[in-house]
Amino acid sequence: MREAAVINRHALEAVEMAIEPGITTLELNRIAENAILHAGGRPAFKGYRGFPATLCTSVNENVVHGIPDDRALRDGDIVSIDVGTFYEGFAADMAKTYAVGTIPEDVQRLLDVTERSLYAGIEQMRPGNRIGDVSAAIQDVIEEAGFWVIREFVGHGIGREFHEAPDVPNYGRRGTREVLRPGLVLAIEPMVAMTQTPVIVLDDGWTAPTENGSLSAHFEHTVAITDDGAEVLTAKETMNTSEGEKRGA
Ligand code: MF3
Ligand code: CO
Repeated sequence: MREAAVINRHALEAVEMAIEPGITTLELNRIAENAILHAGGRPAFKGYRGFPATLCTSVNENVVHGIPDDRALRDGDIVSIDVGTFYEGFAADMAKTYAVGTIPEDVQRLLDVTERSLYAGIEQMRPGNRIGDVSAAIQDVIEEAGFWVIREFVGHGIGREFHEAPDVPNYGRRGTREVLRPGLVLAIEPMVAMTQTPVIVLDDGWTAPTENGSLSAHFEHTVAITDDGAEVLTAKETMNTSEGEKRGA
Protein backbone atom coordinates (compact mmCIF):
# COMPACT_ATOMS: atom_id res chain seq x y z
CA MET A 1 0.00 0.00 0.00
CA ARG A 2 2.98 2.32 0.62
CA GLU A 3 4.10 1.73 -2.94
CA ALA A 4 0.63 2.30 -4.37
CA ALA A 5 0.46 5.50 -2.33
CA VAL A 6 3.78 6.84 -3.67
CA ILE A 7 2.71 6.22 -7.29
CA ASN A 8 -0.62 7.87 -6.57
CA ARG A 9 1.00 10.92 -4.95
CA HIS A 10 3.44 11.35 -7.82
CA ALA A 11 0.50 11.34 -10.25
CA LEU A 12 -1.20 14.08 -8.23
CA GLU A 13 2.04 16.09 -8.08
CA ALA A 14 2.30 15.91 -11.87
CA VAL A 15 -1.24 17.22 -12.16
CA GLU A 16 -0.53 19.94 -9.59
CA MET A 17 2.35 21.31 -11.66
CA ALA A 18 0.07 21.60 -14.70
CA ILE A 19 -2.81 23.42 -13.03
CA GLU A 20 -3.17 26.92 -14.49
CA PRO A 21 -5.88 28.97 -16.15
CA GLY A 22 -6.68 27.55 -19.60
CA ILE A 23 -5.87 23.89 -19.04
CA THR A 24 -8.80 21.49 -19.33
CA THR A 25 -9.68 18.85 -16.77
CA LEU A 26 -9.32 16.21 -19.52
CA GLU A 27 -5.71 17.29 -20.05
CA LEU A 28 -5.12 16.92 -16.32
CA ASN A 29 -6.69 13.46 -16.50
CA ARG A 30 -4.25 12.44 -19.23
CA ILE A 31 -1.28 13.59 -17.15
CA ALA A 32 -2.39 11.52 -14.16
CA GLU A 33 -3.18 8.44 -16.22
CA ASN A 34 0.21 8.52 -17.95
CA ALA A 35 2.00 8.91 -14.61
CA ILE A 36 0.20 5.95 -13.06
CA LEU A 37 0.64 3.66 -16.07
CA HIS A 38 4.33 4.55 -16.46
CA ALA A 39 4.92 3.62 -12.82
CA GLY A 40 3.31 0.22 -13.36
CA GLY A 41 0.08 1.04 -11.58
CA ARG A 42 -3.55 0.97 -12.66
CA PRO A 43 -6.00 3.88 -12.29
CA ALA A 44 -8.37 2.73 -9.54
CA PHE A 45 -11.41 4.85 -10.44
CA LYS A 46 -11.53 4.07 -14.18
CA GLY A 47 -14.25 1.52 -14.76
CA TYR A 48 -15.39 1.53 -11.13
CA ARG A 49 -19.19 1.34 -11.36
CA GLY A 50 -18.78 2.75 -14.85
CA PHE A 51 -16.77 5.85 -13.86
CA PRO A 52 -15.03 6.82 -17.13
CA ALA A 53 -11.79 8.48 -15.99
CA THR A 54 -8.61 8.31 -13.91
CA LEU A 55 -9.34 11.52 -12.01
CA CYS A 56 -12.34 13.04 -10.38
CA THR A 57 -12.09 16.77 -11.18
CA SER A 58 -14.60 18.80 -9.19
CA VAL A 59 -14.66 22.52 -9.94
CA ASN A 60 -16.07 25.20 -7.59
CA GLU A 61 -19.52 24.12 -6.30
CA ASN A 62 -18.87 20.51 -7.35
CA VAL A 63 -17.90 18.61 -4.21
CA VAL A 64 -16.68 15.28 -5.62
CA HIS A 65 -16.88 12.85 -8.56
CA GLY A 66 -16.66 15.47 -11.33
CA ILE A 67 -15.90 13.86 -14.70
CA PRO A 68 -12.94 15.32 -16.62
CA ASP A 69 -14.04 17.06 -19.83
CA ASP A 70 -12.98 19.88 -22.15
CA ARG A 71 -13.90 22.59 -19.63
CA ALA A 72 -10.93 24.94 -19.30
CA LEU A 73 -10.04 26.02 -15.77
CA ARG A 74 -10.34 29.76 -15.22
CA ASP A 75 -8.53 32.21 -13.01
CA GLY A 76 -10.32 32.24 -9.66
CA ASP A 77 -11.66 28.68 -9.86
CA ILE A 78 -10.95 26.04 -7.24
CA VAL A 79 -10.62 22.42 -8.33
CA SER A 80 -10.58 19.22 -6.30
CA ILE A 81 -8.35 16.60 -7.90
CA ASP A 82 -9.04 13.09 -6.59
CA VAL A 83 -6.93 10.15 -7.76
CA GLY A 84 -6.72 6.45 -6.92
CA THR A 85 -4.14 3.80 -7.87
CA PHE A 86 -3.90 0.03 -7.69
CA TYR A 87 -0.40 -1.42 -7.47
CA GLU A 88 0.30 -5.13 -7.02
CA GLY A 89 -3.19 -5.72 -5.70
CA PHE A 90 -3.43 -2.81 -3.26
CA ALA A 91 -5.09 0.57 -3.48
CA ALA A 92 -4.29 4.17 -2.53
CA ASP A 93 -6.62 7.17 -2.66
CA MET A 94 -5.81 10.87 -2.33
CA ALA A 95 -7.30 14.27 -3.09
CA LYS A 96 -6.42 17.94 -2.80
CA THR A 97 -8.23 21.12 -3.75
CA TYR A 98 -6.20 23.71 -5.65
CA ALA A 99 -6.60 27.38 -6.40
CA VAL A 100 -6.45 28.24 -10.10
CA GLY A 101 -4.64 31.57 -10.38
CA THR A 102 -5.83 34.05 -7.75
CA ILE A 103 -8.72 33.34 -5.39
CA PRO A 104 -10.37 35.51 -2.72
CA GLU A 105 -9.16 35.30 0.87
CA ASP A 106 -12.34 33.64 2.17
CA VAL A 107 -12.05 30.88 -0.43
CA GLN A 108 -8.41 30.30 0.51
CA ARG A 109 -9.62 29.98 4.10
CA LEU A 110 -12.07 27.26 2.98
CA LEU A 111 -9.17 25.30 1.50
CA ASP A 112 -6.97 25.82 4.58
CA VAL A 113 -9.69 24.81 7.04
CA THR A 114 -10.58 21.69 5.06
CA GLU A 115 -6.95 20.56 4.95
CA ARG A 116 -6.50 21.36 8.63
CA SER A 117 -9.58 19.26 9.48
CA LEU A 118 -8.01 16.32 7.62
CA TYR A 119 -4.90 16.54 9.83
CA ALA A 120 -7.00 16.96 12.96
CA GLY A 121 -8.70 13.67 12.06
CA ILE A 122 -5.37 11.96 11.37
CA GLU A 123 -4.08 13.07 14.78
CA GLN A 124 -6.81 10.95 16.37
CA MET A 125 -5.65 7.84 14.54
CA ARG A 126 -3.97 5.48 16.99
CA PRO A 127 -4.76 2.03 18.38
CA GLY A 128 -7.57 2.15 20.93
CA ASN A 129 -9.17 5.32 19.60
CA ARG A 130 -12.41 5.01 17.66
CA ILE A 131 -13.76 6.15 14.31
CA GLY A 132 -15.97 8.58 16.24
CA ASP A 133 -12.86 10.31 17.65
CA VAL A 134 -11.59 10.92 14.12
CA SER A 135 -14.99 12.11 12.89
CA ALA A 136 -15.55 14.51 15.80
CA ALA A 137 -12.08 16.06 15.45
CA ILE A 138 -12.74 16.78 11.76
CA GLN A 139 -16.19 18.20 12.46
CA ASP A 140 -14.92 20.50 15.24
CA VAL A 141 -12.33 22.19 13.02
CA ILE A 142 -14.86 22.78 10.24
CA GLU A 143 -17.67 24.07 12.43
CA GLU A 144 -15.41 26.26 14.58
CA ALA A 145 -14.42 27.97 11.32
CA GLY A 146 -18.10 28.54 10.47
CA PHE A 147 -18.20 26.16 7.52
CA TRP A 148 -20.53 23.25 6.70
CA VAL A 149 -19.58 19.55 6.99
CA ILE A 150 -20.89 17.66 3.98
CA ARG A 151 -22.63 14.50 5.13
CA GLU A 152 -23.68 12.81 1.88
CA PHE A 153 -20.19 11.33 1.32
CA VAL A 154 -17.76 9.79 3.80
CA GLY A 155 -14.23 8.43 4.09
CA HIS A 156 -13.66 4.69 4.05
CA GLY A 157 -11.46 1.71 4.73
CA ILE A 158 -9.04 0.89 1.92
CA GLY A 159 -6.87 -2.13 1.07
CA ARG A 160 -7.35 -4.71 -1.66
CA GLU A 161 -10.40 -2.67 -2.69
CA PHE A 162 -10.43 1.11 -2.63
CA HIS A 163 -13.76 1.18 -0.81
CA GLU A 164 -13.81 -1.10 2.22
CA ALA A 165 -15.43 -1.02 5.65
CA PRO A 166 -15.58 0.93 7.84
CA ASP A 167 -17.17 4.20 6.78
CA VAL A 168 -15.43 7.29 8.16
CA PRO A 169 -18.00 10.12 8.42
CA ASN A 170 -16.73 13.69 8.80
CA TYR A 171 -19.11 14.27 11.70
CA GLY A 172 -19.80 12.21 14.78
CA ARG A 173 -19.34 11.69 18.49
CA ARG A 174 -16.17 10.86 20.39
CA GLY A 175 -15.99 7.36 21.85
CA THR A 176 -18.44 5.89 19.33
CA ARG A 177 -18.13 3.38 16.47
CA GLU A 178 -15.33 0.97 15.54
CA VAL A 179 -12.09 0.72 17.53
CA LEU A 180 -8.91 1.41 15.52
CA ARG A 181 -6.32 -1.39 15.41
CA PRO A 182 -2.80 -1.67 13.93
CA GLY A 183 -2.91 -2.59 10.25
CA LEU A 184 -6.23 -0.89 9.57
CA VAL A 185 -5.90 1.59 6.69
CA LEU A 186 -8.39 4.41 6.19
CA ALA A 187 -9.00 7.02 3.50
CA ILE A 188 -9.83 10.17 5.47
CA GLU A 189 -11.55 12.74 3.25
CA PRO A 190 -13.33 15.78 4.68
CA MET A 191 -15.64 17.57 2.24
CA VAL A 192 -16.65 21.09 3.25
CA ALA A 193 -19.03 23.74 1.91
CA MET A 194 -18.89 27.42 2.75
CA THR A 195 -22.56 27.46 3.80
CA GLN A 196 -25.14 24.90 4.91
CA THR A 197 -26.51 22.93 1.98
CA PRO A 198 -27.44 19.48 0.74
CA VAL A 199 -25.39 17.92 -2.04
CA ILE A 200 -27.13 16.61 -5.17
CA VAL A 201 -26.03 14.39 -8.07
CA LEU A 202 -26.34 15.59 -11.68
CA ASP A 203 -27.90 13.61 -14.53
CA ASP A 204 -24.47 12.25 -15.53
CA GLY A 205 -24.88 10.04 -12.45
CA TRP A 206 -21.63 11.27 -10.85
CA THR A 207 -21.00 15.02 -10.55
CA ALA A 208 -22.06 16.06 -7.06
CA PRO A 209 -22.55 19.82 -6.56
CA THR A 210 -23.83 21.70 -3.53
CA GLU A 211 -27.53 22.39 -4.05
CA ASN A 212 -27.17 26.08 -3.16
CA GLY A 213 -24.09 26.62 -5.34
CA SER A 214 -21.81 27.11 -2.33
CA LEU A 215 -18.13 26.55 -3.08
CA SER A 216 -16.71 23.36 -1.62
CA ALA A 217 -13.34 21.79 -0.86
CA HIS A 218 -12.06 18.23 -0.42
CA PHE A 219 -8.75 16.85 0.87
CA GLU A 220 -7.92 13.16 1.28
CA HIS A 221 -5.06 10.98 2.54
CA THR A 222 -4.63 7.22 2.85
CA VAL A 223 -3.52 6.59 6.44
CA ALA A 224 -2.41 3.36 8.18
CA ILE A 225 -2.82 2.68 11.89
CA THR A 226 0.55 1.52 13.28
CA ASP A 227 1.39 -0.07 16.64
CA ASP A 228 1.54 3.31 18.33
CA GLY A 229 0.12 5.93 15.97
CA ALA A 230 -0.47 6.35 12.26
CA GLU A 231 1.43 6.65 9.03
CA VAL A 232 0.18 8.95 6.27
CA LEU A 233 0.96 6.77 3.26
CA THR A 234 0.12 9.42 0.67
CA ALA A 235 2.08 12.25 2.34
CA LYS A 236 5.44 13.42 1.02
CA GLU A 237 7.50 12.16 3.91
CA THR A 238 5.62 9.30 5.47
CA MET A 239 6.08 9.62 9.19
CA ASN A 240 5.16 7.56 12.15
CA THR A 241 3.18 9.77 14.49
CA SER A 242 4.94 8.26 17.49
CA GLU A 243 8.08 9.99 16.23
CA GLY A 244 6.50 13.38 16.71
CA GLU A 245 5.31 15.51 13.81
CA LYS A 246 2.74 13.59 11.82
CA ARG A 247 2.09 15.74 8.83
CA GLY A 248 4.32 15.02 5.93
CA ALA A 249 2.53 16.98 3.22
N1 MF3 B 1 -11.93 9.30 -3.52
C1 MF3 B 1 -13.23 9.02 -4.06
C2 MF3 B 1 -13.96 8.09 -3.16
O1 MF3 B 1 -13.39 7.58 -2.25
C3 MF3 B 1 -13.14 8.57 -5.45
C4 MF3 B 1 -14.12 7.61 -5.98
S1 MF3 B 1 -14.47 8.06 -7.56
C5 MF3 B 1 -15.15 6.78 -8.37
O2 MF3 B 1 -15.16 7.90 -3.28
F1 MF3 B 1 -15.49 7.20 -9.50
F2 MF3 B 1 -14.27 5.85 -8.51
F3 MF3 B 1 -16.15 6.30 -7.70
CO1 CO C 1 -11.78 8.08 -1.08
